[in-house]
Parts: sequence; structure tokens; C-alpha cells
Amino acid sequence: MSVRIVVLAAGQGTRMKSKLPKVLHPVAGAPLVGWVVDAAAGAEPDEIIAVVGYGADQVAAVLPDGVRAVQQAEQLGTGHAALMAIDAIGDVEGDIVVVLPGDAPLVTSDTLSRLIAGHREREPAVTVLTTRLADPTGYGRIVRDDAGEVVGIVEERDADETQRRIDEVGVSMYAFAGGELRRALNEVGTSNDQGEMYLTDVIGILAQEGAPIAAVEAPPMEVAGVNSHDQLADVGRVLRSRINQDWMQAGVSMLDPERVYIDPAVELDPGAVVFPGVHLRGTTRVAAGAQVGPDVFAEDSVIGPDSRVWYSVLRGAEVGANAEVGPFASLRPGTVLGEGTKAGTFVEMKNTSLAAGAKVPHLSYMGDATIGEASNVGAGSITCNYDGFQKHATVIGDRVRIGSDTMLVAPVSIGDDAWTGAGSTITRDVPAGSLAVERAVQREIPDYAARREAKESGE
Ligand code: UD1
Ligand code: CA
Repeated sequence: MSVRIVVLAAGQGTRMKSKLPKVLHPVAGAPLVGWVVDAAAGAEPDEIIAVVGYGADQVAAVLPDGVRAVQQAEQLGTGHAALMAIDAIGDVEGDIVVVLPGDAPLVTSDTLSRLIAGHREREPAVTVLTTRLADPTGYGRIVRDDAGEVVGIVEERDADETQRRIDEVGVSMYAFAGGELRRALNEVGTSNDQGEMYLTDVIGILAQEGAPIAAVEAPPMEVAGVNSHDQLADVGRVLRSRINQDWMQAGVSMLDPERVYIDPAVELDPGAVVFPGVHLRGTTRVAAGAQVGPDVFAEDSVIGPDSRVWYSVLRGAEVGANAEVGPFASLRPGTVLGEGTKAGTFVEMKNTSLAAGAKVPHLSYMGDATIGEASNVGAGSITCNYDGFQKHATVIGDRVRIGSDTMLVAPVSIGDDAWTGAGSTITRDVPAGSLAVERAVQREIPDYAARREAKESGE
């Protein structure tokens, strides 16, 4: 008895008013459908099938390896989508076929496992996942007989007074006996508002035939579907809070978890501290004792132990132990900061490494540069790394003192223990231990102010 989970992800999602297929809208660091497929995978089925249609290639591209994409060329409804899936599978007799909407990302592996186990135990035609809502308005109500057996789902518009008071509702997630699903789908018509084949009609057909229907109840927190941007934001809050709760359980400290945005693949060590306004994206890692934020955007970056990063943007950057970044630093790909280094206020770096103890404290751009141990780059210094055609390297040795406002015209190298004078434009290599100064000799014009004053007043 194989278990196959079918995720319906072929619709455009017109209510999103967006060209991007609805199931690709990012939420908490992953596309909507990614969360559903992940939950499905956690229930350990024999196969996961995603039905794709609108933007099929784009949607198929985000599916993890091993998930089969099945085409639904025309979106003729949820029932039709399920039919495409079982046609692709072939023989489903004796299989359990779980069908999930691709736009309901809060469902957990645990709940799906319970749905499958419940179905296995009772072997009905279908097991309906249900939940209880304080306000069930709009949802199909689960009708049970005196013995508590499910006898059908009544849509809101067809429900009588008594049925409308039922707080148990269907949530569009089902485990079917494969053969029963195929048979019932062949009877589903298209005489409804949208002229589509509704998966929900399958339940009506089975109920009418008196086929056994079972139900498994899910927590109301797990059932929300996304049809609009405000609902996307709502589920995003729930997913983020689950991620943040897990990290806090693991020993990460957060001042205000509602203002912390951590992608699913990010890793933090116990003892990391995260302040509000922090976005940790992609494969970012944060080590113990690091203080991140307020207001940091770090993507695919490493933040080392006991370092401090605040009010800054890091993309593909690596920050070593005990380093300090910001406020207002921009570290671009290839930036590697060694132990005890500093990239300070209004500092931009790209493809640049700082060896242990090196500092670039203020108002500088360092691109394609290698900066040696314990060197200091004075305020306002810039690597002129681009000649309009090519990028060139700047090599700065150990214990170097780059004077404030030095222009380092690359390619250029500064030897160990060398100095540059403030305001110098350095175009030639500087030997170790020497001072390079490049600036016009200063002159003073005495009494200039008084003579200027006289000239202006027309004397
Ligand atoms: C559906 C249910 C509704 C339920 C709601 C819960 C039906 C007819 N309606 O309505 O009872 O309360 O979900 O979230 O089943 N899809 C396809 N192919 C299609 C049409 C849709 O793959 O031809 C996919 C969509 O991409 C989406 C999912 O099915 O992921 C649900 O479609 P949607 O249009 O959002 O259905 P609802 O109107 O929300
Ligand atoms: Ca929906």
C-alpha cells in the first residue's frame, strides 16, 4: 500500500493580482509551495507529486529533487488537477492518495502523519482533515450522525440553521483510497459558478453513495490557505514565529522575536543574540556570543563568535571572531574579516580580506584588496580598483598605516610597516617601512582675508 501525496500547485492565483504564480510567492524565506512540500516530505510518503500548470517551469524549478511534477495544461479546477495526478501515477488501486492545496503552508508533517495513520487504521473511502473554528462562516461543515460517524460535508450555501452551527469544518486536505478517488473523479461534473471540476464534489459523491468517510482533526493554526497578500503576511507571521521559537528553545536570545526574520536554512549557535530589525537570509550562520542588530540584513554570510554587527548589510561576507561591523557598513560578496577586525561607519567592502586586527573604521571603500595584520586604513580612504575597463588588486601588508583620505590606485601594493601621508594619491608600489606622500606643497598667503575684504568693498 503506497502512500502518495499530491500537492495542487497549478493555479495562477488571480486574487494575488500578480504575474508570479501564487505558490511561488515567498513567505518566511521559502516559496509558499515549498512549505507544503516540506511538510509532505516529513510525513515520509512513498512519492510526492506536484501538479503544475500556470508558470509550470518556474514552479517545477523550486521543487526539491525527487518530487514529481505533473502538468495540468489548463486549470480546470482542483478536481481536474487531482485527476491529472492520478492519471500520471497510473494504477492507484490500493494506494493512499493524500491531496493538499499548494497554498496552505502551515500544515505540519505531524498532522499529515496523523491523517495518513488515521486513514490506514479505518480504511474508509476518504479521511477528511477537519478543524474547529470559533467562526466557521464560509467553510463546508462536517456533518456527523448520532454515532459520531461523518456522513457528509455541507457547503455553507446548502447548510440549514442547525448545520450552520456546526463548528467543525473541512480544510481541503484529504487522504483517499486511490481507487475510490479515481471512480468518484470520473463522476464529477462542471456545473458550478466557475465551470470547473471541484475536488470537494468528490466528497459529496462518496457521501451520497454511502461510502465510509472518516475525519482527523487538525489544530486550527495549521489550516489557513493563502489567496491574497494580507493572508500571505498572516501565514508569514506564523511561520516566522515557529522558526524563532525553535531558535529561542535552542538557546538563541531575541529581544523582540516579532521583528526578527530568519530563513529556514539559517543556522545560529546557542548564545547568539539577535536584536530587532534583523533579516538573516539564505545560508547565513551566526556563532555563539555574536550580537546581531539592530537592523541588519545578512544574506549567505557568516557572523563569527563574539562579533558585533549592527545597522549593516552583509551579502556573501564572512565576519570572524570578535570583529565589529557597522554601524552602516555594506559588506559585499568576497569580504572576509579576520579575528578582531573592524569595518566601521559608512564603510563598503567587496572581495576584500582583512587579516587579524586590521581596521577600516570610517568612510572608506575597499574593493579587491588584501589588508594585512594589524594594519589601519584611515578615514575616507578608497581603493581605486576600477579603471573603467578592468578591476585591479590592492595589496596592503602587515602593520601598515594608510593615512586618511588616501587614494590607492590599483594595481598597487604597500609593503609591511609602510605609511602613506594623508590625502595622498598612491599610484606606485610603496616599499616596506617607508612613508609615501603625494600631495602639493602647502603655501600660505599672508593677510589674504583683509586684502579680499578690501577688494570686495571696491577700494
Ligand atoms: C479550495 C476549495 C475550498 C477550500 C479552500 C481552502 C475546491 C473546489 N475548493 O478553494 O473548498 O475551502 O480551497 O483553501 O477545491 N489548483 C490547481 N489546478 C486548478 C485549480 C487550483 O492546481 O485547476 C490549485 C491551486 O494552485 C491552489 C489549490 O489548488 O494551490 C487551491 O486552489 P484555489 O483556487 O486557491 O481554491 P480555493 O478557491 O481557495
Ligand atoms: Ca486557496
